[in-house]
Formats: sequence, C-alpha cells, structure tokens
Amino acid sequence: MTLLLDADDVGVATAARIITDGGLVAFPTETVYGLGADAANEDAIRRVFEAKGRPADHPVIVHLCSVDQLGTWLEVVSVSVRSLAERFWPGPLTIVAPKPASVSSLLTGGQPTVGVRIPDHRVALRLISESGTALAAPSANRFGGVSPTTADHVMAGLAGRIDAVVDGGPCRVGVESTIVEVTGGGVTLLRPGRITVDDLQATLGVDLVVPSQVSRAPGTLSSHYAPAATVVVAHDGEGALRAAAACEGRGERYRLLGLSGALPDSPMVLESFESVEAYAHGLYAALREADRAGIEVVVAVVPGPEGLAAAVTDRLMRASGGASVYGST
Ligand code: TXA
Ligand code: MG
Repeated sequence: MTLLLDADDVGVATAARIITDGGLVAFPTETVYGLGADAANEDAIRRVFEAKGRPADHPVIVHLCSVDQLGTWLEVVSVSVRSLAERFWPGPLTIVAPKPASVSSLLTGGQPTVGVRIPDHRVALRLISESGTALAAPSANRFGGVSPTTADHVMAGLAGRIDAVVDGGPCRVGVESTIVEVTGGGVTLLRPGRITVDDLQATLGVDLVVPSQVSRAPGTLSSHYAPAATVVVAHDGEGALRAAAACEGRGERYRLLGLSGALPDSPMVLESFESVEAYAHGLYAALREADRAGIEVVVAVVPGPEGLAAAVTDRLMRASGGASVYGST
C-alpha cells in the first residue's frame, strides 16, 4: 500500500522515517516530483530502479539540503562547481562531476560521475534534512513516461510500488532541472531547463559546450517523457494546421497544444498557454489530460530554442521520438 502524506510536520516526519528504514517516498520539488530513497543504502537504490522499471545504466540524481554535504558526494568541489552552487542552489540545476570511490556505482549507472542538486522546495529540504542523508531521486514516474507534477500523477503511475507520497501540491517549474557536466575540460549542457545557458555562462564567465544532439545523459533518449498519445511537433501555426490536416486525413483523434500566440484558431485546441513559464508548468498535466481523454495525436507547437523555451522544446522533441516535424525552422 502507498501512503498519501500531508506536507506537514507529521507527514514529513513519517516520510523521513520511511527513508531511514530503506523505503521509497515520492516528494515534491520545484521541478517535478522525485522518487526518493536513502542515497547511502544500496538496497534502497535497487528498489528505486525496480519501482520505476528503469534500466540499471541510467544514473539518478542525488538530492542534498546543504552545500556542506558536497564533500561527501563529489571527488572535488572545483571552483566552477562552487560558483554554480552559490549562484543557483537551492534551485533547478543538477551538477554532474567526478564521484569519489565511496559513492555507489548503482547511483551513477556505472559512470565515473555523479549528479547532485539542492532543490528549491521547503518540503524537499525538510525531508532531506530530517532523513539525515542525501536522497537518490529520479522523477517519480514509470521509466520513459511523463514526469509527475502533482501527487495524483505520482499515484497514477506508482501506487502499490512505493511506500508513500508527500503531497506538496503542484510543482512550480514543471520541467526537470537543467543538467550540466563539470569536468576539468569545461562545462557541458546535458539537459536544458529553467536555469538557462545564458544564466550559466554569466556565472561561469566561459561558454558552455551545448551539444546539438544530447546523447551523453542517459534518460535523454528519444521517446522519453512520452504519453501514450503520439506527439507530433510543429514549429508554427501553419505547420500545426498541416499536421492537423494529416490527422484528419487518417481519421485520428487529435488536439493542439502551444503558446496562445502561435496556435491557429481552431476548435481542436487542448490547451493554449499565455507564456513560456505557463507552458513549462502545464506541459506534463496537458499530456496526461490528452491520454485521459483518449486523444491519439497531440500536435504541439514548440516555443523556440532560447531560455526556458529550449527545455519545453527539448521535452516535446523527446516525447515525439524525433519523428514527424512540421514547419520551416
Ligand atoms: O528536476 C529534476 O532533475 C528531477 C527532480 C526529481 O529533481 N529529477 C529528474 O531525475 O529528472 P531523472 O532521473 O528523471 O533524470 C535525471 C537525469 C537522467 O537523464 C540521467 O541520465 C542524468 O540525470 N544524470 C544523472 N546522473 C548523471 C551522471 N552521472 N552522468 C550523466 N547524466 C546523469
Ligand atoms: Mg525522469
């Protein structure tokens, strides 16, 4: 059975006890809900992989509540790591850096690096601190599916497979953290998110390596973050209309998704967002709503390549598996 806990003193204390006993607790962060386990307990880490149905070579992020824990989880705390941590934590940035021998390779999927972050969420920080450890926490969904941004989303995918969910309401940002790899050779973007390339470069004073086709971060495979519906990406309203016409030609149930200014005037709009922030915040709930409503194809107009829009575009491209793209850009 999976307990649904309130995000109050009793709920957090109960959740912390489950963690220290080696159990699994889903908890809210500012990005998406994480599925937490004691990052120092290998049996607990194995259970996270089982509950998610996640392949063992996909590393998980270690969530901390204080920079004082960095010395335990990283081989060295370099100048770049320290300045990123000071500027962006607590916040939606994951730093991947060389791991010390003491960090389990179960956490890192066999890689010589480990990902760490301090989430900007009161409940997450209290849970980590009361557990007295760090929390290994991938997003709290079955492998390959849409990340959860509410406790209900977590329950829909993992009820019966985990011990508890702490209900902290909807997540503020809505898409997963930005991931950067920091090594002696420089800083590489592994996954775009709320903290943008410009934000990072301004702090580091050097250019980031931004691979066009991100392949290093497992879990950034194609067809990840995907609903049951097929996702078709359009670059503009005109592309969306052509995609819609193709769906109509095949007799498919489809709906449109995108920024209000970019969507064509159509009765088939599933959701139109007023800002990129709203798009990021509401994206995963909208994809889940499409599945609930039995929609076969979601035609999503991507918001562009800059800033937070890059993160929304990235997740939609991955949800589409990189298949059909309509429009010029
Ligand atoms: O916002 C987030 O990051 C959320 C919340 C819960 O913190 N977590 C999250 O975890 O999205 P997950 O496991 O769904 O995605 C973590 C990503 C994966 O793509 C994984 O491959 C990458 O982080 N990652 C973690 N450690 C890594 C490492 N050592 N090297 C390369 N990639 C790593
Ligand atoms: Mg995930």
